[in-house]
Amino acid sequence: MLVRMTLRARLLILPLAPALALSLAGCPTDPVPEDDAGPRPDGLVVDAALGDVPTYTGDVRPILAEHCTGCHVTGGIAPFALDSYALAQSFGARIVETTQARIMPPFLADNSGSCNTYVDARWLEDAELATLAAWVAGGMPEGDPAIPPPDPMHPPTLDPSEIATTLDIGEDWTPPTTSPDSYRCFVVDMSAVGDQFVTGYEVVPGDPRVVHHVILYEPQDADAAAAVMTADAEDPAQGYPCNGGVGASAYPVALWAPGSGAQHFPTGTGVRVGGWPAVIQIHYNITGSGTHADRTRIHLRAGTGVRPAVITSIADPAALRLAPRMSSVSQVIDQPVPTDARVYGIFPHMHQRGVSVRAELLRGGAGAPECMTELPRWDFNWQLGYYYENPIDVARGDSVRVTCTFDTTTESDVVTWGEGTADEMCIVFFYVTGAP
Ligand code: HEC
Repeated sequence: MLVRMTLRARLLILPLAPALALSLAGCPTDPVPEDDAGPRPDGLVVDAALGDVPTYTGDVRPILAEHCTGCHVTGGIAPFALDSYALAQSFGARIVETTQARIMPPFLADNSGSCNTYVDARWLEDAELATLAAWVAGGMPEGDPAIPPPDPMHPPTLDPSEIATTLDIGEDWTPPTTSPDSYRCFVVDMSAVGDQFVTGYEVVPGDPRVVHHVILYEPQDADAAAAVMTADAEDPAQGYPCNGGVGASAYPVALWAPGSGAQHFPTGTGVRVGGWPAVIQIHYNITGSGTHADRTRIHLRAGTGVRPAVITSIADPAALRLAPRMSSVSQVIDQPVPTDARVYGIFPHMHQRGVSVRAELLRGGAGAPECMTELPRWDFNWQLGYYYENPIDVARGDSVRVTCTFDTTTESDVVTWGEGTADEMCIVFFYVTGAP
């Protein structure tokens, strides 16, 4: 065991810290002579003389267990499992490619530090990326089969005493088999929250094989609430189909993807929910395991005496006109900040043509833009929310610039704003409180 750990510690990413890598390779606690360790074309330092390649049981399985098998497990949402040596081996090259490209685990915001960092970011550490790459480059050895598998991850849950109310889609819903992806909206009663503020939530997917992600939307006003109730009433089946948005002005209160446990809003803050019903939008995906009946629930934590947060948005629907046949066409929105505020989190939303999205802050409304959030590779399938590790204070007179970039190569007409798949959106929601 001790030997394994020494070997593992010697795997360093050279481009990041060449001096550190060399000095550790020759440090006194390490008996290997300096010339045994050398840089490889892929930038890793591997001790070839000792056959010093990471192993599945010793090095790779713990990484997959921590970051991947919450979804890549039999009965999970991912299209294949990664929980055995044979499976990990057969996907080896793709594991390296998708982790290095930051496609997997799914977390679209750049968390490198060049444009802020996020709470619970699902980015692998550089050392973990290096271990996966070195394992594949080194022929994917199994390692000692006697090493016990790591304990399965258990995402945090809400204590039953914390749960103010549980939202329930009412009856089982079985996603249709006509397409792999479907979006269904269910109207839910929020009255039990009363005068309290929602301070956290826990989404409990009914059947994890089909629930890809879940968003709880709060209608913007009474008219929007009436619109979702009409949509619900017009569809004879339970809920109504809702491919892009929920069919009315609404903002996301709770966001969930597989593997996320109970979420708490930033400490001491909470969201007031209106006196009308809300909407649970569920993205179902049946690729992995066929369709199954689902009965998803959301536990809400609520309280009083918190700083009220609002979920505000930047969008300019009327101005969204995307020229067709363009591989890159953007909408840029400059929005003056009306009042001093603290921005805790961000949730961008586009449809399938989205390529990237960025939010920037212009202090005093001018000057060099400061990066707030950058999603360099938009993926409609992963509608996620991102909370800053360090919230951003903005002042009245500042301006926030949102840039959504789209690909319209396959379109023959101008694309405009709308709810359907033929339409587009560029909207960024922010979780905001007043200035502290
Ligand atoms: C939150 C759930 C989730 C987590 C966590 C996750 N995946 Fe995935 N993965 C998926 C889904 C769903 C797909 C199918 C494609 C999609 O929807 O993006 C997928 C697809 C893939 C693919 C195939 C994509 C391709 O282009 O070949 C690979 C490889 C992969 N995941 C590897 C990983 C690895 C390695 C990890 C951990 C480091 C990981 N995934 C973590 C859900 C997840």
